[in-house]
Amino acid sequence: MKTLLTGASGLTGTLLLSRLAVVSPGSEISCLVRPTSDRSFIEKLNLAINYFIGDSSTAESWDRILSQYVPDTIVHIASIRHIPVILDSLEKARQTPRLIVVGTTGVYSKYNHYSGIYKDVESRLVQYPGSYCLLRPTMIYGSNRDKNLHKLIEFCHRYGFFPVFGVGNCLLQPIHADDVAQAILAALQNPEVQGSYDLSGGSVVTFRELLALVEKLIGKPARPISLPLNLGVWLATILENSLGKRSPVRQEQILRLQEDKAYAHDAAQRDLGFFPRTLEVGLQQEVELLRSQGVI
Ligand SMILES: NC(=O)c1ccc[n+]([C@@H]2O[C@H](COP(=O)([O-])OP(=O)(O)OC[C@H]3O[C@@H](n4cnc5c(N)ncnc54)[C@H](OP(=O)(O)O)[C@@H]3O)[C@@H](O)[C@H]2O)c1
Repeated sequence: MKTLLTGASGLTGTLLLSRLAVVSPGSEISCLVRPTSDRSFIEKLNLAINYFIGDSSTAESWDRILSQYVPDTIVHIASIRHIPVILDSLEKARQTPRLIVVGTTGVYSKYNHYSGIYKDVESRLVQYPGSYCLLRPTMIYGSNRDKNLHKLIEFCHRYGFFPVFGVGNCLLQPIHADDVAQAILAALQNPEVQGSYDLSGGSVVTFRELLALVEKLIGKPARPISLPLNLGVWLATILENSLGKRSPVRQEQILRLQEDKAYAHDAAQRDLGFFPRTLEVGLQQEVELLRSQGVI
């Protein structure tokens, strides 16, 4: 089977390839990577990786790749926002490979400013004439490469507290990146699986319960300091406007702390054998990893 993967050098992508190297050593896989992508980790894996250098957000890259390669399956992890470009290029190339796409449960946000783009992209995907499997993870964590919990762990470890903007009792269900990787691999190994699946973690917690868990696992205080929501939104806006992508926090993250983000994963459990680890187990693994790397 000819598989083309995007996002191979990212957190979820490296875990997916690590798993593939174990279940199917020596397998051939093509990866679309940027010229700047760090390939050092995946190059050590027992896989025969063929690289296409490009940018998965551009038609130029897809048109070029699809003119020389006909994949049976495209596993697109890089960003669901690239899907319209990919679908257009596939149509031009008259190809209909199976698509396995990593989306986001952000599509359910009541803040249309954030969810609108995902809704639009998903509505394009459902019109795809080939088979597709859309996997929507919740907040992904698992290492110093995640964009969420490792920052919280580091902050608590250093300062002994964490700001809680608003009430802090909305629900979260973070998912370990390796559980996302397992679900992608299951989708890849089961070509009959199609449709959309929410991928949430094994535990539902409030933000305050999350801090209590971090406190227990790092063995240091992680006191919640209550602050008004508006202050958080104001601070995040200033940071984003001045630092752009380097901002430690985004306005969206603060606003979305005010909405419940717990989603059932029964469909993924049934069709993909998806049994995610509990948050306590996953965070324990992340804390141990951060300790071994000297991050905390
Ligand atoms: N983080 C979350 O909490 C969260 C929640 C829900 C859904 N998701 C989605 O889940 C997916 C995986 O997340 P992750 O945290 O594992 O991602 P990640 O670590 O940030 O990795 C992203 C990967 O995509 C590649 N990539 C990004 N833009 C690209 C482009 N224009 N052309 C080619 N490659 C590109 C990156 O390449 P480089 O190495 O060159 O940067 C990297 O390999 C993403 O689609 C993300 O949007 C994330």
